Amino acid sequence: MSYQFMIENDHKIIYSLVKELCSSARLGLAPHECKGIFARIIEKLQDHFHTEETAMSLHGYPDAQTHRDAHLKLLDLFHGIGDSLITSDGKLYLGKLERGEAEISDHVCSHDIELTHFLRDKYPE
Ligand SMILES: [Fe+2]
Ligand SMILES: [Fe+2]
Repeated sequence: MSYQFMIENDHKIIYSLVKELCSSARLGLAPHECKGIFARIIEKLQDHFHTEETAMSLHGYPDAQTHRDAHLKLLDLFHGIGDSLITSDGKLYLGKLERGEAEISDHVCSHDIELTHFLRDKYPE
């Protein structure tokens, strides 16, 4: 299985987890259950970033450091969201989740598209 395929497949999984969480939160799923989905998102993000960073190292991606820094920023953001996901009166901060969703989309539409184009040019299917 190519890195390009794995990366694009991971994006689908991450998007679907984030969507599941946002819609569950809007429908009123218990905050502790939302936290469980959130923990799966963080785990998947870490695993996915590792996959992208391995692909960048193996294939001599020229913009690897900038991309790695963007991963660190995203993880920091998500850890911060997780720390304050539940309000003091036991509700969920939906706005924070939506910001996380927007940041992931921005990352995929900029850094990750450049990386997948680089991999595709190098290893056309
Ligand atoms: Fe990335
Ligand atoms: Fe990605």
